[in-house]
Amino acid sequence: MLLCDNASAGESSRVKPKSCERVPLGYVAEDGANPANEQVRMWTRCGNRGRIMRDQFVQILDPLGKRSGFLGRIVSGPFFGNSEAVPDGESAWNPEAVIYADIEIHGEMVQGRPSDTRSRPVPGSTVHEISTDEIAKLLGFAGDMLLGNLSGKDTLLFRLQSDNKGVLPRNVGIFGTVGSGKSNTAQVLIEEAAACGWAVIVLDVESEYIAMDAASNEQALFAELARFDLVPSGLTDFHVFHPASCDGERSDSQAFTLRLADFETSVIAELLHATLPERNALLDCVEHFEQRGRSKMTTRDADDLNGLLDASPQAKLVFTLRSLRERAGERASRSTEYMDYAGLSSKLMWLLHSGAFDQPSLPSIDVRAMLQRGRVNVIDVSVANDVVKNLVTADLLRKTFAYKMLNAEAPPTLLLIEEAHAFISRERAQTMQATLHMLRNVTRRGRKRWLSVGFISQQPGHLPPEIFELCNTRIVHTLRSMHNLETLMSSAGDIGREMWDRCPLLGPGQAVVTSPQLKRPAIVSIRPARSQRKFVH
Ligand SMILES: Nc1ncnc2c1ncn2[C@@H]1O[C@H](COP(=O)(O)OP(=O)(O)OP(=O)(O)O)[C@@H](O)[C@H]1O
Ligand SMILES: [Mg+2]
Repeated sequence: MLLCDNASAGESSRVKPKSCERVPLGYVAEDGANPANEQVRMWTRCGNRGRIMRDQFVQILDPLGKRSGFLGRIVSGPFFGNSEAVPDGESAWNPEAVIYADIEIHGEMVQGRPSDTRSRPVPGSTVHEISTDEIAKLLGFAGDMLLGNLSGKDTLLFRLQSDNKGVLPRNVGIFGTVGSGKSNTAQVLIEEAAACGWAVIVLDVESEYIAMDAASNEQALFAELARFDLVPSGLTDFHVFHPASCDGERSDSQAFTLRLADFETSVIAELLHATLPERNALLDCVEHFEQRGRSKMTTRDADDLNGLLDASPQAKLVFTLRSLRERAGERASRSTEYMDYAGLSSKLMWLLHSGAFDQPSLPSIDVRAMLQRGRVNVIDVSVANDVVKNLVTADLLRKTFAYKMLNAEAPPTLLLIEEAHAFISRERAQTMQATLHMLRNVTRRGRKRWLSVGFISQQPGHLPPEIFELCNTRIVHTLRSMHNLETLMSSAGDIGREMWDRCPLLGPGQAVVTSPQLKRPAIVSIRPARSQRKFVH
């Protein structure tokens, strides 16, 4: 049992933990004019002023209660100089003078666990401080991924559980306004997940994460890092990639090509903005190649997936952009009003010039190599346009999911998408069905396979709602726009008004965190990253 059990107060044989043996912090006061369900006021002597700290967790032992007492947190105070309470001639700084504080009731202790309550402690109940270890366990802060500490409680560390299927595999959202600390939080998550044996893939839209193999050079944050007994340090198993159609920011970044045959025909049509007759011609050409390919194949599905996952330039593909264009060109003279091969051919020519597809000597995205325990892979799409970013995302999601389907022993995998709102937005949902389809699939079905998607966005209100709602662990840094706040509020019923009111006032790195792992939302000061960030100005 973690806390002393009030119901068993009469059982002298029970050993009470230290936190309850100390002098009470104070006593529950009588209710004032406007009592609230979830708050009580406590009183104590001014001599205890040093112990009355906001955010201090307390246990309230109710002499009339049948359970183990209430769990609460000091949310306001200390308040001084209540003339009704200070007898004549006493000043507020007299150690015997009465001071007050307000406690938010978090629940009742039932068999050592906090649970919801429909009651309140009676006046006269004793209020006791709770130690940080006790409260960490009670609130669900225990885990193996060190993210930071509970705000205002330097010693109360906040950890997520890498081995809990209800946490990362149920997807993560990191939200907050510009400069609020999102990227730092993402780096911390990457460092911790990799250290716990997760494979990590980051879709990096600003080349921010491409230097994480070096130690942090933000000297101003070293002291803060030391508070967690950590020193700056880079990641060891670290790799950077970029799409062949644009340059990578880092000289040793590895180029990869997209392969047209890896995408569904409907996506290719979407990409080409094909007219109906061009679409028909495309279907006809693709079918031509598929029939030829199929006759050579023995089993379908597994071969399809293995073909998809063979990233080498020698991989057997049903068609390439070049062969598809040749076929369309050959048939151009047969164009009719229903089948526009000529139009298709010229659009495929345009795609050929973009350089994004089927570069002969380059590998495609190689998830087999990427999905290794503790390995971090950054896909630098900073120079790519939205179409390429979109396609790279869809390609990554599809291949990662396929690989996990075929390989049960593959490590748990975290796929982080930076600035998700910029190219996966409500407004664009119509024109990017491919990515949305894959995201839907992976965020819903990935859990069984230990596949997690993390969205980082300064505009959560712009994300397609279905995606946003699938983030069960949310780290919300300061957000000032009402539109974004309202989107969050409407889909997070477990966060009280008082918590949201604090959201616009959070400092850099502070965040409201909700997660299935937690008993209730918490305000956390995220630790600084150990690895380097490449700042773009
Ligand atoms: N956990 C933290 N502890 C201390 N300082 C932090 C923390 N997180 C962020 N900061 C400070 O705030 C700055 C901005 O952080 P960061 O770049 O992570 O924010 P962001 O939300 O990603 O910004 P942007 O919207 O520009 O992408 C950092 O350079 C750092 O100085
Ligand atoms: Mg950022």
